[in-house]
Amino acid sequence: MQKPAITAVPVHDLIQERWSPRAFNGAPISKETLAKLFEAARWASSRFNSQPWRFIVASNDDADAFEKLASCLFDGNYVWASKSSAIVAVIASLKGKPDADPNPAFMYDVGLAVGQMVLEATANGLAVHQMAGIDRGKIKERFNVPDDHAIICCLAIGEMGEAANLSETLQEREAAPRVRKPLSEFVFSGDWNQAADL
Ligand SMILES: Cc1cc2nc3c(=O)[nH]c(=O)nc-3n(C[C@H](O)[C@H](O)[C@H](O)COP(=O)(O)O)c2cc1C
Repeated sequence: MQKPAITAVPVHDLIQERWSPRAFNGAPISKETLAKLFEAARWASSRFNSQPWRFIVASNDDADAFEKLASCLFDGNYVWASKSSAIVAVIASLKGKPDADPNPAFMYDVGLAVGQMVLEATANGLAVHQMAGIDRGKIKERFNVPDDHAIICCLAIGEMGEAANLSETLQEREAAPRVRKPLSEFVFSGDWNQAADL
């Protein structure tokens, strides 16, 4: 299913085409393609080039490893994300530079890296659905995530599948229009809440 963004002005095709489906077909993703996604993340900018992103990846070509991570998703996400081809846990190192200082921008840095991953995935014919609905305690325990790291979210990655294979409720969500605030509500100039003249 295509759900292109209805933009007010033209944007790059990758941005227009990207969206977060729940219907995946489970087709395996090659190691080469997976590596491209992480390479895209690798080249994100970050505060002091600290590169605080860490990822745990599980592909559905190893059923046990996939289930180990997929079963850390909340049920509402597991029901559809377990049909994707790869699950990725997104984790941030909280250490700054120098190491003694916390990095106040860790979430921003990691978000940038995932943003690049998502666009690289789109360019490779894959969809990514990000999920905050995850059991962080389970991920920390099962994968021995150190205390000075924050578990941010998980990603379900794969080729889009048929919406008809989803439950009725999920089919409705899948078909729901994509909406966004207008620029005037979040781009200000001169004063707070004063819409920039764009
Ligand atoms: C950090 C983050 C957490 C999210 N958590 C969930 C989630 O737990 N479950 C879910 O179905 N969608 C989740 N989403 C997907 C958003 O609902 C979705 O991106 C948003 O509705 C905009 O839709 P679009 O990505 O198709 O443009 C999450 C997205 C982000 C960026």
